[in-house]
Amino acid sequence: MPVIRFMPTFLTPDEVVIEVEPGVTLQEAAEEAGVPMGDACGGNCACSTCHVHVVEGFDSLEEMEDEEDDILGKAEDVQMVSRLGCQTEVADADLKVRITRESQVAFINEHPEHRGREGEIEV
Ligand code: FES
Repeated sequence: MPVIRFMPTFLTPDEVVIEVEPGVTLQEAAEEAGVPMGDACGGNCACSTCHVHVVEGFDSLEEMEDEEDDILGKAEDVQMVSRLGCQTEVADADLKVRITRESQVAFINEHPEHRGREGEIEV
């Protein structure tokens, strides 16, 4: 099974490694791993709060659909390795994933108990 390595976040200061079945989305994997990822629209490809950078293994992923591309166009800090966590299914390869600052701040906004920790976010 592919392994996902989530880079450190404000809630998870060390890398978090999780093994998942192919076909699981990055958002589902992050939730299972306890890694903060925004999901303001509930995974419906209607916001960009689940924006991630897939820094290793990007080429193993299915190409994105036009809807994902459109939404990513509204995100901050878009890179060649940007994807929406809710739309990106893990394939057979291992991945290394950075949860963007935008996504971590969105997570804080959705989980007010973490308010005030924005300064701890380093990406
Ligand atoms: S959670 Fe809104 S686009 Fe992914």
